[in-house]
Amino acid sequence: MAEKKSKPSDDFSLSRELQPKVHRLIPGGAHAYAKGDDQFPEHAPGFIVRGKGCRAWDLDGNEFIEYGMGLRSVTLGHAFEPVVEAAYKQMQLGANFSRPCKLEVDLAESLLELIDGADMVKFAKNGSDVTTAAVKLARAYTGRDRIAICGDHPFFSTDDWFIGTTQMNAGIPQATIDLTLKFRYNDLDSLHDLIQKHPGQIACVVMEAEAATPPAAGYLEAVKKLCDQSGIVLIFDEMITGFRWNLGGAQKFHGVVPHLSTFGKAIGNGFAISVLAGKREIMRLGGLDHDRPRVFLLSTTHGAEAHALAASLEVIRIYRERNVVEFLWRQGERLRAGLNQVIGYHRLADYFQLFSRPCNLVYGTKDTQGNPSQAFRALFLQELIRGGILAPSFVVSFSHLESDIDRTIDVVDRALGVYARALEDDVQKYLVGRPVRPVNRKFN
Ligand SMILES: Cc1ncc(COP(=O)(O)O)c(C=O)c1O
Repeated sequence: MAEKKSKPSDDFSLSRELQPKVHRLIPGGAHAYAKGDDQFPEHAPGFIVRGKGCRAWDLDGNEFIEYGMGLRSVTLGHAFEPVVEAAYKQMQLGANFSRPCKLEVDLAESLLELIDGADMVKFAKNGSDVTTAAVKLARAYTGRDRIAICGDHPFFSTDDWFIGTTQMNAGIPQATIDLTLKFRYNDLDSLHDLIQKHPGQIACVVMEAEAATPPAAGYLEAVKKLCDQSGIVLIFDEMITGFRWNLGGAQKFHGVVPHLSTFGKAIGNGFAISVLAGKREIMRLGGLDHDRPRVFLLSTTHGAEAHALAASLEVIRIYRERNVVEFLWRQGERLRAGLNQVIGYHRLADYFQLFSRPCNLVYGTKDTQGNPSQAFRALFLQELIRGGILAPSFVVSFSHLESDIDRTIDVVDRALGVYARALEDDVQKYLVGRPVRPVNRKFN
């Protein structure tokens, strides 16, 4: 189907035509539930065909400034030339061989310079795989089966040990579900209680060092100490925070070094690469030089795909040379300040709220009663789309310039005007079609 040339418009007819087909061919119609139709209003582009910088164009030729950018994997910008160039150069030299590629050593060294306290790394393609590998390694290292995860953090892996704890746990054996326990963030007692209740049984604690809420003073240090005292492996999931809070992740930002940590998303600017990093004493169980039972640690055909490694090396070079992390915080702060101003102007502070750090701005929508509202989220997304902004979050990239931020604030101003009217009236009068829905639910 040909992309139309017009821009920018409100016409999604080519997308609409293709949508039944994608659902016929692909369960969920996308390869991440977060990209699915139920996550966007009906008045939304169905398919993206290309991107450049912070802009994306849909099948109908509509142009958007986009945020979120590949589920937060694209931090430099779409089709960012030096990264594409580095990957392309390597593609011409070959993608995969019968022995390791030298780039594996180069990238391992580069990453280990950034990740404090880590001695070894292992590469994979998805965040889920490296986080699951960290859990397996912790189980082998400790000889324990149970896992303690932070119940306030939204996602760690597509694998059973995590998805089993969500609403969407069909197909996962109860025996697996029973092995994963939950504690609360910023509540040391809740972790302490789990450890008391299951003495000598918890292999690892899995958490983000920080998600929507910052850690209370001393909290992360206390978690680390408790893990050390109880023989538990502390795993920080740095999928979102890595290359964003700091090049060395939220662990570097907060000065707390876990035993293992996992990175993905930003480290390849959209190319598929993820990494498990950690202490030699634990990581070496996946290697050839120990006499304990061998751990089958991340042995995959595509784990060290050469052009993804080359892309990641270039990403690190650019981050260092151009101080990308500082840029993300600065632009995010400009956006946050402007958004807070328009939220205040429309007197919506109780109904539309921003969360997390400037480099990772997300928002929440509430209805007249002050309850989280998917209908108001859909309305907000719809009005942004009308203004040429695609923003499931307000997470900026290195390609979001001041002019893009300022235009976004103008469009949000108009969208919140509609939001305010809908609060006084009836949201359904303003919303085209159905509300959006949470990804993690039991039934459709
Ligand atoms: C915090 C966190 N951990 C792990 C993952 C899984 O990463 P992937 O989708 O690359 O498997 C995600 C994905 O969104 C995530 O946000």
